[in-house]
Amino acid sequence: MKGLHETVLLDEAVVALGVKKDGHYVDATFGRGGHSRNILKHMEGNGKLLVIDRDLEAIEVANELTKNNDNVLIEHGAFEMLEQMISENFKGKADGILFDLGISSPQIDQAERGFSFNKDGPLDMRMDTSQGETAAQWLNKADWKEISKVLWRYGEEKKATIIAKEIVIYREEVKPLETTGELVGIIEKINRYSKKHPATRSFQAIRIHINRELEQVENVLPAAVKSLKKGGRLVVISFHSLEDRIVKRFFKKQSTAGKYDKRMPIAPADTAVLKIIGKPVKASGKELNNNPRARSAIMRIAEKL
Ligand SMILES: C[S@@+](CC[C@H](N)C(=O)[O-])C[C@H]1O[C@@H](n2cnc3c(N)ncnc32)[C@H](O)[C@@H]1O
Repeated sequence: MKGLHETVLLDEAVVALGVKKDGHYVDATFGRGGHSRNILKHMEGNGKLLVIDRDLEAIEVANELTKNNDNVLIEHGAFEMLEQMISENFKGKADGILFDLGISSPQIDQAERGFSFNKDGPLDMRMDTSQGETAAQWLNKADWKEISKVLWRYGEEKKATIIAKEIVIYREEVKPLETTGELVGIIEKINRYSKKHPATRSFQAIRIHINRELEQVENVLPAAVKSLKKGGRLVVISFHSLEDRIVKRFFKKQSTAGKYDKRMPIAPADTAVLKIIGKPVKASGKELNNNPRARSAIMRIAEKL
């Protein structure tokens, strides 16, 4: 198997989807398939699970899953294709859609993917290695203002401007950036070691930018609602506040139509299309003991009206 991923909120997400044995479900972030396998345990007969990922290695793992299981359908691609993928595969709408956002452990663990500041490798950071610009290509051409904006906006990196300027000096006076090690070397001269590695914030920011992660989440939520049947469940697990803020605001807006109150941060939609189900779910103490990565996970659940 191509690396292991410890699935977060494994049972909670499947309960939140309310899986019916002959329903049509979507795991839009297959990863290594932890959630998918759990959904399949509750499925029989005509039940269908469409699994999606933009990462080719994830799709290879998904292909293994289909060998013994007629209930699984697979699509390689990013969230912008979600609506089309669902309508083509289901010839209709879904009973539930799950998003477990962010990157998987195998993506971080493999040096050659370029996501890790702990392992030297090519400065890539693309989830989909079949297309798009790598982190190195972008860092070698963007001006310092653009780099600084990304580091601040997506990483809240306090030294964003100094780091951005040093990157530009390095590529102009030394050589174009090629490896994660070179980028870490530049950042280490500026940021001190604290509880977190000095490059944590910059790596997060560059990864979010390269994969257009926030834009993808922003655009896919309305598409997901359109692709759900009445009573269908939308379940979203986020790992950082930038993502969770988008999900929280969307759920609020789509569930509070007609209840306009000028103190609200955003105007509600004309007609409510969602009902929020329960409070946001966090990992249990037991899960946190086994998987520290679960600490930042927050799951929000809504039902289509
Ligand atoms: C946190 S992992 C999911 C782990 C999975 N639930 C499991 O149990 O193994 C997130 C996965 O979503 C994929 N992904 C993230 N953003 C995506 C997007 N915009 N479109 C498609 N796939 C995406 C990543 O490639 C990664 O494999």
